[in-house]
Order: sequence, then structure tokens, then C-alpha cells
Amino acid sequence: MNLPRLELRRASKVYQTNGQKLEALHEVSLALEAGSVTALVGRSGCGKTTLLNLAGAMDFPTSGEVFIGGRATASLNENELTALRRQRIGFVFQFFQLLPALTTLENVELPLLLAATKRAREAARERLEWVGLSEKADSYPYQLSGGQMQRVAIARALVHSPEIVIADEPTGNLDDASGDQVLGLLRDAADRFGATVLVATHSAEAAAMASMRVQMRDGRICAVERA
Ligand SMILES: Nc1ncnc2c1ncn2[C@@H]1O[C@H](COP(=O)(O)OP(=O)(O)OP(=O)(O)O)[C@@H](O)[C@H]1O
Ligand SMILES: [Mg+2]
Repeated sequence: MNLPRLELRRASKVYQTNGQKLEALHEVSLALEAGSVTALVGRSGCGKTTLLNLAGAMDFPTSGEVFIGGRATASLNENELTALRRQRIGFVFQFFQLLPALTTLENVELPLLLAATKRAREAARERLEWVGLSEKADSYPYQLSGGQMQRVAIARALVHSPEIVIADEPTGNLDDASGDQVLGLLRDAADRFGATVLVATHSAEAAAMASMRVQMRDGRICAVERA
């Protein structure tokens, strides 16, 4: 049997603000395999983004563990964490987060330049073609629609063929047609590139295309459904 690529074991997260403690995640366990799409659903404030931050090694559990490729994220040093985030994880956000001063192609290429990868330009062109936006290579983000911006963001998130793709409300700002395109690309990332995709979403369509649907409430997983 394959080892899960991403695993949370009784992971809890307590935030401390102004002396107040808030437990945003309580002993969450979850194992995700290569080529799967998992939808995290639940009300605002139930802990979806908190879970994604742990899964993407952007933050660490206050207790319990998060394993990526078999290693606990909290045991990695700064260099290992930077390498992990740059090489093995792709992030997609609700507000796209493209750099306005860079063209579409440059935005997609950027992660490869940061990782000093060879043939960065060609790889960026390939991914831009995959999202159907080759003709927008020299356009700037402000010249694109929201749906196009999100497809560029997906090309950027996938440009280094990451093992894990983390998407936080990727269709939150899109109309249904653009949202469906974005979801199709995330599904394709899992099917064609074997990525492990984890998506937090309020959209029923997103939940419907997932291999697994994880329902959260008050920082806990309350139901898991497999397609
Ligand atoms: N950095 C932080 N410091 C303190 N509390 C936080 C922090 N981030 C989130 N929280 C709190 O943790 C809880 C979970 O927040 P989280 O952002 O994970 O929810 P969510 O499910 O992503 O919600 P939404 O659907 O609105 O995006 C909330 O009560 C929130 O106020
Ligand atoms: Mg959130």
C-alpha cells in the first residue's frame, strides 16, 4: 500500500491573541493519497484555512503532527521548509495573488526562477498552454478577467509539478463557468500530474468533483464521504 503523501495525526492548533486562547483545530486526523482531490467544507470559522496552513507547512500544529512525504513538518529546519514549499507544494488563493508588475508568463515562471530551475521559460509556457491562456502570455494581470487570473494562478501553482496542491476558496470570486474551469484544472492536476489536491470550499460543485469530502465543524472533522 502507498504511504499517504500528506497526513495529519491528531493535529490541534491553538491561537493566542491578547492573552486569549482559541482552539481552531482539535485533534484532526486525515490521510491523503497521490492523485486524490479532497474538499474541505464547513461554515466560516470552522478551521479550514487553519488546516490548509498546517497542510502546506506554512504553520505548525500546537500538538499532534503533520507529515509530508513521511516527514513531520515541525522537524524541518528553515532551509528544508523553504525547499519543501518551493518544490513540493503549490498554493492557490481566493484572491489569485498574482504580481501586478509581471506579465502572465513571468508570474507563472517566478516559482521556477526562485528555485533556480533550468528551462523555466519553456515550462511556464507549457503550463500556460495547459490552462488555455497561451495568447495572454504577455498580458498583465489587470488585463485579465477574474477567471483568467485564477487560471494563471493555477498554472503558477502547478509549474513545478508539485506533489501537493493547496487551494483556499479558489472559486470564491468567480462566476459558475469560470469556477467550473478552475475545478476542472484542479481535477486534471490530480489525474494527469498525480498531485494530491486539498481544496477548502463553500461551493457544492467543488465538493462534488472531489474524491473525498471532509466536513468540519468547530475545528473538528465531523463527517468524511468518499465519492
Ligand atoms: N492568526 C490567527 N490568530 C488568531 N485566531 C485566528 C487566526 N486565524 C484564524 N483564527 C481563528 O480560528 C478560527 C478558524 O479560522 P479559519 O480561518 O481557519 O476558518 P475558515 O474555516 O477558513 O473560515 P472561512 O470559511 O471564513 O474562510 C476562527 O475562529 C478564526 O477567528
Ligand atoms: Mg478560510
